[in-house]
Amino acid sequence: MSDIYNKLLEEAKSASKYAYSPYSNFPVGAAVLYESDKIYTGCNVENASYGLALCAERNAVSNAIAQGEKTKIKAVAIYSPKQKMCMPCGACRQWLSEFALDNKTAKVILENKDGETLVLSLEEIFPYGFKFDED
Ligand code: THU
Repeated sequence: MSDIYNKLLEEAKSASKYAYSPYSNFPVGAAVLYESDKIYTGCNVENASYGLALCAERNAVSNAIAQGEKTKIKAVAIYSPKQKMCMPCGACRQWLSEFALDNKTAKVILENKDGETLVLSLEEIFPYGFKFDED
C-alpha cells in the first residue's frame, strides 16, 4: 500500500473529528488528493432541517475549489469512526466524478473491516455516471 494512500486516510480520520453531526451522530471525514499533490479535507455538516446535510466529500471538494485548486482529483479517502468501509453516497460519487482525472484512474480509499486500507477505482463504484456529450 502506498504511503500517500495511508496518509490520505489519516487526513480523513482527522477531518472526521470536526464533523457537525448532532442529528445522525454519524461523523464522516474526507480527504481529497489532487494532481498538484495538495490535499483538501472536509467533514459532514448537518442542519436542523435534516435534508440540508452536507456530506464530507462534497465539503472537501468545495474547499479545494474555494482555495483555487485547478488540477484534477487523483484519490479520495473517506472515513467514519462509526462504520468500516464508509462508501461515498451517490451524490458524492457524481461530484467526485466531475473533478476526477478520469474514473478509472481516480481512486477511492477506505478502511476495511480488518482496519486495512482498501483501494477501489471511482469507475468500479460509479459506472455510467451522468456526463454531457463531448463534441
Ligand atoms: N454522509 C457523508 O458525509 N458522506 C457520505 O458519502 C454519506 C453520508 C453524512 C451525511 C450525514 O451527515 C451522515 O453522514 C448520515 O447520513
